[in-house]
This record gives sequence, C-alpha cells and structure tokens, in this order.
Amino acid sequence: MIRRAVPVGIGHYLPERVVPNSHFESFLDTSDEWIRARSGIERRHFAAEGETTSQMATRAAQQALDMAGLKPDDVDAIVVATSTPDLTFPSAATMVQSALGMTRGFAYDVQAVCAGFVYGLAQADALIISGQANRVLVIGAETFSRIMDWTDRGTCVLFGDGAGALLLEAAEASGDKADRGILATDLHSDGTYRDLLYVDGGVSTQTTGHLRMQGKEVFRHAVEKLAATAEAALAKAGLTDDDITWVVPHQANIRIIQATAKKLGTPMERVVTTVADHGNTSAASIPLALSIAVQDGRIKTGDIIVTEAIGGGLAWGAVVLRW
Ligand code: UT7
Repeated sequence: MIRRAVPVGIGHYLPERVVPNSHFESFLDTSDEWIRARSGIERRHFAAEGETTSQMATRAAQQALDMAGLKPDDVDAIVVATSTPDLTFPSAATMVQSALGMTRGFAYDVQAVCAGFVYGLAQADALIISGQANRVLVIGAETFSRIMDWTDRGTCVLFGDGAGALLLEAAEASGDKADRGILATDLHSDGTYRDLLYVDGGVSTQTTGHLRMQGKEVFRHAVEKLAATAEAALAKAGLTDDDITWVVPHQANIRIIQATAKKLGTPMERVVTTVADHGNTSAASIPLALSIAVQDGRIKTGDIIVTEAIGGGLAWGAVVLRW
C-alpha cells in the first residue's frame, strides 16, 4: 500500500467586476475582434480597489472546506501559488491561514508564475506521500490587474484576477493507475528564458514593476512544451493519451489550448476552457477551471484529469490525477 493525495473539496472565487474587451477600446488601439481572434478572451474579472490576493484565496479555500465538510483545523498545510501576494511577507498562505481561523499546521507560498498551481500540486503530493501532512489545501490566487502596464496592448488585455482552491487528503492506495488522487507530476524550468516573460520590478529594485512579455516567443514555447510535459506525466502514471477524460489546461490563449489538445489527440469537448470568461489568471486559472467543471457536473469521480501550464521562468509542468 502507498499514500496518495486524493481530492476531497474544491472551490473558487471571482471578483465581482467583469470587464469586457470593449473596455480597452476606449484607451488603446485594440478591438474586441482582435482580442477574441488572437486569444479567445471575451471578458475577465478585476479585483475591487483594496481587494487582495489572500482575501480571494480565503473565499476559494472556504468553499473547498465546505464541500469536504471539514473545518480549517482539520487541514495540516496550506500552499498558495501566487506571484501577486498582498505583501512581500508574510506569505499569502499565512494570511489565508489566519483569515480561515486555522490555529495549527503550516502555510507557505510557491512562486512559479502561471505554472504555480501545478508546482503547488506537486508540493502537496510530496507532503502527503512523505507523511508530513494528511490534508493540504492548494490554492492558486492572483491579482495580475495590479501589475499591468495599461499602455501595453500586447499584455494588458490578456490577464484577469481570481482564485481557486483544491483540498487534498491522504488515502491508502494500491499504487497502481486505478487509484484515485495524484498519479504523477512532471516539473521543468529553464531560467535562460527569463526575459520572455517577467515583471520589471521587485523588492530589491524597490519598485513594483509591470508585466513584460514577448508573446510570440512564449506562445511558441507553450505549444512545444505543454504537450511534451503532459505526455511525460501520463507515461509516469502508466497511462496514455487514450486514458484522458479531461484536460484542464492553464488558460492563457485558446489557440495554445487547441494546439496542445490536438497534439494529445484530445477532442476539444474533453478540454475545460474558461479563458473566454476569465482571461489569463496565472496560477489561479487551473483551479478556477477545475472548480467550475466539478460544480457543473462535467468532472466526475474516477475521471482522469491532465493539468498542464507554462509561464514566467520559463517554468512549466503537468499533473495527472484521478478525480
Ligand atoms: O500565461 C503565461 C503564458 N503566456 C502565454 O501563453 C501568452 C502567449 N502568447 C500569446 O498568447 C500571443 O502571442 C498573444 C495573444 C500575446 C499575441 O498574439 P499573436 O498572434 O502572437 O500576435 P503578435 O504578438 O504577433 O502581434 C500581431 C500584431 C502586431 O502588429 P504588427 O506588428 O503585426 O503590426 C501587434 O502589434 O497584433 C498587434 N497587437 C494588437 N493589435 C490589437 C498586439 N496586441 C494587440 C492588441 N490589439 N491588443
């Protein structure tokens, strides 16, 4: 018998303000048509003034706990994937811990930009397999609207805010591919590509900075690397493309999602897409999409889910789990 990290609760939160593509037409040389055609995005949510990443993360986490019928003190660890924390420190995760009223366990952030949730799942898996935790909340939460350069039409039309949370619980399992829970993880980064997607500010430069992206180059890497990491994770799990029930990809661009699905041989009816409604919410995009597809009944117990993401670093990876 081995230990597996099995999903027991999921939740999400989207800020109230919905911003349609037409919003950008008033101050940028852009159009709803261009944004839809090149990215698949139709609208996104922006956090209200004063609304923070940890507040959104807390709302998503509470939903996940409610679904599982558990209390905050039933959780051993909180891992928040974010590149847009409220403060430099303490971590957003400890802020969520206190906001939930959790008085035990431990909490920390992981920062792998858009791949953050996949990295967070790998962390939770390792904590559970090693016996350091029995229940781990993995949260992806972002306020990317705070780091947009509103004069850069190549980036500011693409991103949005939100949060999603997945609660994983240790379960004794046989160790084969029929088990529920996380079956395999596959992580990569290559810092030589740091200039393709970055924020030109940070604590030691005493600025907040804005997101900068060479979109075309990132697009090229995404199409090449996402299918490869998904295939690698499937192989580690002893599964093939034919076993996939749902692909739940990072939601950056519908054309990247389509190209990756095609390489995996997965029809688009088997791919969960939220990019039209959320834009790119970085580390929040996968748990948001997962939560929505669980709540609307698409994802069912026993389904094989493949998640994959790429972002600044470059950092990328995939996780295969059985719901
Ligand atoms: O989540 C992290 C990972 N990020 C990604 O995966 C994003 C990857 N990249 C992309 O999604 C796409 O590259 C973009 C959506 C960012 C851009 O799409 P593209 O098809 O690669 O367009 P492009 O950058 O090659 O730009 C084509 C044209 C350019 O004009 P010229 O040089 O051909 O005259 C741009 O200046 O479109 C122009 N353009 C715009 N036009 C209207 C760029 N942004 C806009 C805009 N509205 N918002």
